[in-house]
Amino acid sequence: MGLNPILGSLVLFLWICSGSVQGDEGDTDLSSMPKTENCKNYYLQFKRTFSVPGDVAMLNSTLVSPDVFDFRTVPHNITWYNARTKTQMSNETGRVLVLQETLWFLNVTMDDNGEYVTILRTPSRCYMQSTLLVVELPAAGQCERPRKADQTLTKGASDMLSCPLQDVITKLDNKTKMTVKSVGFQDGGTYTCTLSFQLGGVTGSVSETIEATVEDEYYKVPQLHEPANGTVKAEMGSNLTKKCLIYVLGTGRPFIDILWKVKDEFILDKNSSSHIYTSDQRWWKDNTSEGLWSERLLTITDLRAEDLHLNYTCQAHSSRGTPEGYFTLLPTDPDAMTPIGSVFGSMMVLFVISVAVYYSFRIDIVLWFRRACPVLYTNKDLDGKRYDAYVAYPQPGAMGFTEEVERFALQTLPQVLEKACGYKLFIAGRDSLPGLSVVDCVEENIQASRRFLLLYGASTFSSRRHASHNNNNVCKDGSQDGDEGRPDSRQQMECVAAMHRALLEGSLKVVLVELEEISPAQLALFPESVRHLREKQGAVCLWKSLRRRKRWRTCTEGREDEEKGGKDSPLLSSLPPSCRFWKEMRYHMPVRGKREAYPEKSSLLSLG
Ligand SMILES: *[C@@H]1O[C@H](CO)[C@@H](O)[C@H](O)[C@H]1NC(C)=O
Ligand SMILES: *[C@@H]1O[C@H](CO)[C@@H](O)[C@H](O)[C@H]1NC(C)=O
Ligand SMILES: *[C@@H]1O[C@H](CO)[C@@H](O)[C@H](O)[C@H]1NC(C)=O
Ligand SMILES: *[C@@H]1O[C@H](CO)[C@@H](O)[C@H](O)[C@H]1NC(C)=O
Ligand SMILES: *[C@@H]1O[C@H](CO)[C@@H](O)[C@H](O)[C@H]1NC(C)=O
Ligand SMILES: *[C@@H]1O[C@H](CO)[C@@H](O)[C@H](O)[C@H]1NC(C)=O
Ligand SMILES: *[C@@H]1O[C@H](CO)[C@@H](O)[C@H](O)[C@H]1NC(C)=O
Ligand SMILES: *[C@@H]1O[C@H](CO)[C@@H](O)[C@H](O)[C@H]1NC(C)=O
Ligand SMILES: *[C@@H]1O[C@H](CO)[C@@H](O)[C@H](O)[C@H]1NC(C)=O
Ligand SMILES: *[C@@H]1O[C@H](CO)[C@@H](O)[C@H](O)[C@H]1NC(C)=O
Repeated sequence: MGLNPILGSLVLFLWICSGSVQGDEGDTDLSSMPKTENCKNYYLQFKRTFSVPGDVAMLNSTLVSPDVFDFRTVPHNITWYNARTKTQMSNETGRVLVLQETLWFLNVTMDDNGEYVTILRTPSRCYMQSTLLVVELPAAGQCERPRKADQTLTKGASDMLSCPLQDVITKLDNKTKMTVKSVGFQDGGTYTCTLSFQLGGVTGSVSETIEATVEDEYYKVPQLHEPANGTVKAEMGSNLTKKCLIYVLGTGRPFIDILWKVKDEFILDKNSSSHIYTSDQRWWKDNTSEGLWSERLLTITDLRAEDLHLNYTCQAHSSRGTPEGYFTLLPTDPDAMTPIGSVFGSMMVLFVISVAVYYSFRIDIVLWFRRACPVLYTNKDLDGKRYDAYVAYPQPGAMGFTEEVERFALQTLPQVLEKACGYKLFIAGRDSLPGLSVVDCVEENIQASRRFLLLYGASTFSSRRHASHNNNNVCKDGSQDGDEGRPDSRQQMECVAAMHRALLEGSLKVVLVELEEISPAQLALFPESVRHLREKQGAVCLWKSLRRRKRWRTCTEGREDEEKGGKDSPLLSSLPPSCRFWKEMRYHMPVRGKREAYPEKSSLLSLG
């Protein structure tokens, strides 16, 4: 049915105007009716009922209303009287039906025209009211009614007419079956709708006529573009302006009111010295299509805490609907985040810095701890080993051998590690006793050492110049082909033995000392065990320290440079003991406990 209450009330208004001509019978003398002296009189109600002979007409008394008395709890009787005949209205089959506050004429006649009085009695009070029934003859042979409701149709829009029978329908609702028919002609013109129903044992009908005019101007449901139901963040004390923007398709000037609302109250203030105010509503034409834009700005000055966490809703009121949108005002992030955020943030920063510092100065920190708190470290003197480290380097005649390498192994290394740091080294070629079998010597001394320092250059493992049956590669696993007297095979044996212990037994720590930079191609020729170890634990790179020193020149004041006089390439021996290379070496060497200072206590301290 889709009856529109707004249009319904508009129709009602028209009826009142046109019906007022006959309203001057209002002050009918009711004194002849029984016991009405003490009744409170509400006189003639404005609303008239219009009908035509043969139709059903309904009169409704408005006395049963909370404005008059508490009708839900107070018992009451209602009686209807015909004011002209001064007789009480009673049920007449097919003619009259009295149903509490409604009086039904089931087959209206011209005689029924007139005023009817309702008397309502409660145990203590009495109320009375008059209602007018206007019966008119329709134009002969036409279904349309003399009284018409004016309604408009807008051109180009899909529109609707409302049958103004809502009152009857409401009353009939559960009392009867009904059908609504509407009879139309063209778009413009008169429409008559008829409601047929069964009531009081008869089938009756009631009709209304609509005079529809078509308007050229039209508009569609406004579209709300802003605000779009999001959140808006603003700082305390700042000024905030948000726009409510709508678009409406149509022609002519639509009646649409944009209103802002917060906490269920409309913001109507437009004074710009107020805390919250709105602008005037502004309209402008969209020059590309048949539409109009409109907006109204909301301004909040000097934002306060009580303005926050609220929904600011904008509604576009139109007869075609009231779309709405809102934004939720929130404080900017820093306010909310400060307490937790800053503590957490600074802890994270501190952690990252600590980790970074540890990794950059790990070696210095460890060396400092060893010096400062020797008691924390196990004294290694009592493990039955004779040497702190076994030094293996390319022997004369082997791949990668140079005098420089030899001098580094035989002079520089002992100078720093033995003389300056007090370590005891086994250096093959310096300490191996003549006469002893090389195999025995290597095995025995590696076993007696806590570390194995493997010195190698770029070509130590990778040279293929002597490519023959055994490839001459140091550390070529399992090579036992009888040429143990050769220098190559000595280091190979050392290497194999050390790697075996390091990788398989885990009983020896191998320190790789890389004398020269290794290219990936060279690395690919390394024995797999060395490559694996290098990947796993890294190497101490002499060449890195040399390069760094060359670049910065801060490491040394050239003490050793002068000493050597640059005669034979000073590179390998030119680093002072304070350089990173030596620190790294010391870091990898066993801890030196406090054996010199507290020889007796050392046994107690080495329990771990
Ligand atoms: C009839 O009157 C009652 C009050 O007595 C009112 O509540 C009701 O809305 C009226 N009905 C119509 C259809 O006007
Ligand atoms: C009239 O008839 C209806 C139903 O038939 C009934 O509910 C109502 O009370 C009657 N009214 C009177 C005044 O007898
Ligand atoms: C209404 O009354 C008229 C005459 O009084 C009668 O001819 C007609 O049949 C009645 N209509 C109904 C529906 O009873
Ligand atoms: C209503 O009418 C009945 C019967 O006529 C009567 O018994 C009752 O007291 C009346 N109630 C009131 C509130 O007048
Ligand atoms: C009619 O009856 C239905 C249930 O059958 C109920 O939901 C509705 O409220 C009733 N209407 C009136 C006006 O009494
Ligand atoms: C906010 O607006 C008021 C008046 O509208 C003005 O006096 C004030 O300076 C503005 N504050 C800011 C932060 O812009
Ligand atoms: C706006 O408010 C201020 C003070 O609240 C008042 O002095 C001023 O006259 C108002 N302006 C308007 C246009 O009402
Ligand atoms: C629409 O307005 C824009 C900006 O005001 C203008 O540049 C454009 O030419 C206009 N288009 C038409 C069809 O008028
Ligand atoms: C704002 O409106 C949304 C959606 O209706 C709702 O979920 C939310 O709870 C509201 N917030 C406040 C502060 O009223
Ligand atoms: C915003 O919320 C309103 C209800 O508060 C809803 O009617 C509307 O469709 C929503 N708009 C958008 C863009 O989601």
